[in-house]
Amino acid sequence: MKKIGLFWGSDTGMTEEIVSILVDLIGADKVDSINVFNASVEQFDAYDTLLLGLSTWYDGELQSDWDEFFESFQQIDFTDKTVALFGLGDQEGYAEYFIDGVGIIGTIVQQNGGKIVGKWKTEGYEYEASKAVLEEGWFLGLAIDEDNQPQQTDERLEQWVAQLKEEGFH
Ligand SMILES: Cc1cc2nc3c(=O)[nH]c(=O)nc-3n(C[C@H](O)[C@H](O)[C@H](O)COP(=O)(O)O)c2cc1C
Repeated sequence: MKKIGLFWGSDTGMTEEIVSILVDLIGADKVDSINVFNASVEQFDAYDTLLLGLSTWYDGELQSDWDEFFESFQQIDFTDKTVALFGLGDQEGYAEYFIDGVGIIGTIVQQNGGKIVGKWKTEGYEYEASKAVLEEGWFLGLAIDEDNQPQQTDERLEQWVAQLKEEGFH
């Protein structure tokens, strides 16, 4: 069985913590966890199923390692790949840019032929604007807010992983 490639970036360790919970939920034997800091386009090419995780910084910018990798990322061919995204953000402090990074990365995945699963309802969040919302009522991926709603994180992750399985993500 081919593994899931989980590519992530984290400035202060919050996304990294979510990654370790996700790896436990999915099964450590099923996932390769790769810090985008060390990643190459070839590594992305090696997986048919990808999980991409990142935080958003400085008014709607990509987490720093994703930001540095972004030019290369835009060259990845996502044809026949299934991709799920998750983003960390602060819906109160940065309400106009909530998890924008998910929208920026996810838009490239779609433009380059990838299929996105794991879309997540915007219900239960309060924010002004988000680049991660391409269809009304839906984020392009899971939204995690450790700054304002940490008590909801575990349940959201469990629900999302169950949803991914139902959507044939494995
Ligand atoms: C200076 C600063 C800028 C931020 N900008 C945004 C933003 O534009 N949008 C957002 O949703 N969250 C923003 N955040 C919140 C972070 O994304 C959030 O705290 C996240 O959990 C950090 O994850 P990391 O440690 O994995 O990088 C910002 C936080 C800081 C301190």
